[in-house]
Amino acid sequence: MAEVVGVVLAAGKGTRMKSALPKVLHPLLGRPMAEYALRAVEAATNARPVVVIGHQAERVRQGLGPDRARYVVQDPPLGTGDAVRRTRGVLEGRVRTVLVTNGDMPLLRAETLRALLEAHAAHDGPITLLTVVADDPRGFGRIVRDPQGRVQAIVEEAHATPEQKAIRELNVGVYAFDAEWLWPALEALPLSPKGEYYLTDTVALAVAQGRAVHALVLEDPTEAVGVNTRVHLAEAAAVLQQRIVRRWMLEGVTFVDPRRVYVEDTATIGRDTVVWPDTYLLGDTHIGPECDIGPNAYLRDTHIGARCRVFASVLEQARVEDEVDIGPYGHLRKGAHLARGVHMGNFGEVKNAYLGPGVKMGHFSYIGDATIEAGVNIGAGTITCNYDGQRKHPTYIGPGAFIGSDTMLVAPVRIGEGARTGAGSVVTKDVPPYTLAVGVPARVIRRLPRPEPPSEEP
Ligand code: UD1
Ligand code: CA
Repeated sequence: MAEVVGVVLAAGKGTRMKSALPKVLHPLLGRPMAEYALRAVEAATNARPVVVIGHQAERVRQGLGPDRARYVVQDPPLGTGDAVRRTRGVLEGRVRTVLVTNGDMPLLRAETLRALLEAHAAHDGPITLLTVVADDPRGFGRIVRDPQGRVQAIVEEAHATPEQKAIRELNVGVYAFDAEWLWPALEALPLSPKGEYYLTDTVALAVAQGRAVHALVLEDPTEAVGVNTRVHLAEAAAVLQQRIVRRWMLEGVTFVDPRRVYVEDTATIGRDTVVWPDTYLLGDTHIGPECDIGPNAYLRDTHIGARCRVFASVLEQARVEDEVDIGPYGHLRKGAHLARGVHMGNFGEVKNAYLGPGVKMGHFSYIGDATIEAGVNIGAGTITCNYDGQRKHPTYIGPGAFIGSDTMLVAPVRIGEGARTGAGSVVTKDVPPYTLAVGVPARVIRRLPRPEPPSEEP
């Protein structure tokens, strides 16, 4: 029997989002909102969670991933108590403790869920719930305690008396239940005046049986922020972003203005790197130490080595080795690979191409489907004409070649080691090593001296 399994409630409609997209799929820093609850629950329980879906069930299942969790369908939605009851079939007899949370509460931390489970294990009552003390009730259920401070019931705002409405301790909607106690209790829930079965009514049931209900009060109230509207969505995103940026600052990264960046939690950043405002670090992006990134840098799924500088540029699915500088206005696209010490100045675009160590490409160039060897100088305005309208063709430029300004390299084409092209040439045929080609179409007009081979040491 498993010790504990998490149940994530996600069958509700999310009407207040005013969206065709199910609420729990709304992206929050690059992930569907419910993914945060799934990860917290998984980390706290070491078990695959069960997700209760209903509204647009198939879309939610696909959006989160069919293998991401075990899914149970609740249709029609008859309340939170009914939602948990639907998991009985997959959980009864297989688990000692059921941890329940909501798909629309992305800020709850795994540590908090762990603390709740520890508190639950420390007493023999059938329920331990998470509460928060706050001035703004946000429509949450109120925690009713007796004069001795013992939890008596949860009253939903819609059914609360004026005195109960004034209670500042609120139900977060996260609970640990003894499974054996829970299943029959769910069958015994009363129908609410709204025609739903409230999970919150399990509290009064336990109390009526003379069992104790314990509450753990949240230390950090921001964890209880539930997302019901797009205003809440933005609030949640801001809190998550603060957590991520703070984590990297404590790891030795400088953020010039921590509020003006967008960093997904999949990105990693090396020590003594400085991140300037209006920088986006998305997906599988990794930045080495001592870099200067931004202002205005957009990096997606990109790996960057040490001591690089990226200024006002867009990098997507690219790989950049150490000591490279890019920008302003560089664009690395899928498959761009810049080796150590490359300099890529303004208005350069590189796609599916390797630029070897020390390549210089200062101004207004497009390099696509190409291999450029070490030390090549790419003159201003150089273009690889890699597309003939039907197919893409490769370009090769040998080590130390010098490509004159405004050269058109009509692929497939090879420029030999140490070769040069004249300004404005249109190269349609291979240029042999150590020759100079000029004109339209380019012709070889001269041989160039080869460098002395390095002398043998005696
Ligand atoms: C619920 C609690 C309330 C608590 C609040 C905290 C109940 C009756 N009330 O209220 O005390 O303060 O959460 O956020 O539980 N859901 C289903 N199936 C349903 C109904 C809801 O799966 O039939 C899911 C929703 O998708 C959502 C969660 O359960 O993820 C909570 O439902 P919601 O309707 O938002 O409850 P609240 O009114 O917020
Ligand atoms: Ca809610």
